[in-house]
Amino acid sequence: MTNVAIVGTQWGDEGKGKVVDLLSENADLIVRFQGGNNAGHTLVVDGQSYALHSVPSGILRPGKISVVASGVVVDPEELILEIKALTQRGVRITPENLKISEKAHMILPYHRLLDALREGAKGGLKIGTTGRGIGPAYEDKAARTGLRLVDLRNPAALAGKIKLALREKNCLFEHLYGQKPLNADDLTKRAVSWSAFLTPFLTDTYLTIQDAQGRNRNILFEGAQGVQLDVDHGTYPYVTSSNPTAGAVAVGTGLAPKDLQNVMGLVKAYTSRVGEGPFLTELSDDIGQKIRDTGLEYGTTTGRPRRCGWLDTVPVRAAVKLCGIDRVAVMKLDVLRGLDELKIGTKYLLDGREIDWVPADLDILARCRPVYKTVPGFAEDIRGAKKLEDLPRAARVYLDLLEELLGVPAALISVGPDREATIVLHQYF
Ligand code: GDP
Ligand code: IMO
Ligand code: MG
Repeated sequence: MTNVAIVGTQWGDEGKGKVVDLLSENADLIVRFQGGNNAGHTLVVDGQSYALHSVPSGILRPGKISVVASGVVVDPEELILEIKALTQRGVRITPENLKISEKAHMILPYHRLLDALREGAKGGLKIGTTGRGIGPAYEDKAARTGLRLVDLRNPAALAGKIKLALREKNCLFEHLYGQKPLNADDLTKRAVSWSAFLTPFLTDTYLTIQDAQGRNRNILFEGAQGVQLDVDHGTYPYVTSSNPTAGAVAVGTGLAPKDLQNVMGLVKAYTSRVGEGPFLTELSDDIGQKIRDTGLEYGTTTGRPRRCGWLDTVPVRAAVKLCGIDRVAVMKLDVLRGLDELKIGTKYLLDGREIDWVPADLDILARCRPVYKTVPGFAEDIRGAKKLEDLPRAARVYLDLLEELLGVPAALISVGPDREATIVLHQYF
């Protein structure tokens, strides 16, 4: 009986949904601990594809409990739509198998509007957010002006809180952005209408998690985004507004830090990034386009084409240290098929000197050039591989190099989107 955190080591979209769905077979609890519906986690089960945004990726397994913990920001309108859409597809979702923290902060329509207006006003300096209101919602949480899901239980008090919040927000909308103000009564009516649907799912999930931990249940913590998008440790300001690092498991769920037992870091066999910000190993050529086409690298949440490039181990090594990653999952290896040679970024060259860290100053980072190690590519279709020996020699050489550069062993190799297309090397539970 143990627990495992699944974290993305790059800029998100490493395949967390697939791995969480796979591992949830033997888990009791599946817990989202940070981020919001900026996440897009795709699961392919029996040929059917499911894109999840706020609902944890364990939801397709009957008998498992999915938890949206307090570190997550929840857009009630979007969550209701997501639950209804899944229910329509035959996924059973009840207050017994989905528990949502009443302490989680709500993303309200004014957060989405502010996200869009700010991005629009920034022009060339925009972050390229998902437009889901994530930043403004976390800002209000830290500013102690946010509304939590627990507020849906008390419609009388809700009206006052919304009115107070809109006093400040409307000032920005009207006087900074030249927009019409939002009406507090309309918004209150909308919020009250979510209450009946959502309140049965609300609970203090920290107790659910502590109880499961106390009973030695298997718990999976499902990260969103990736370490390079971490607001503290990522390529700031081109980051999200939460901490996708493993430390956030404790803060965002109420599990004591010493009780987190394993951390699995997901590493895509190449790199993708969606939105703006530095990307040293980006390929703006035919190889980048080939990776995008083969890997279907288009955003699950926004449909934007993802920027693609070679695997850069400098930030991933930092992620291994930052999160205490004990094993990695190498994802989407099959996508590299058909390239003559494969490159892995090993270090950066800064003004003629080799360095092994990502400079915090983006102007200095812009002067860095990746140092590559080049190995032969493989032509074979590896999507049916079930064990390491099924892989062509060149693919195994690539994996060995990756493990050596990261200093941790692989727990699994993913060779296709479905559950079955996985070489499992280590069982956590
Ligand atoms: P997440 O945000 O980390 O959950 O990742 P996304 O779901 O946004 O993006 C990963 C995409 O790659 C999804 O469409 C998955 O179905 C798909 N995928 C996951 N693992 C593999 C793999 O090993 N090979 C291929 N070809 N696709 C994969
Ligand atoms: P999953 O969980 C990839 C990126 C956005 C933008 C930046 C800030 O599917 O891996 P935000 O809306 O969070 O304020 O946007 O972060 N971003 C993601 N990129 N995968 C994600 O989630 C992401 N969530 C946010 O593109 O660059
Ligand atoms: Mg995604």
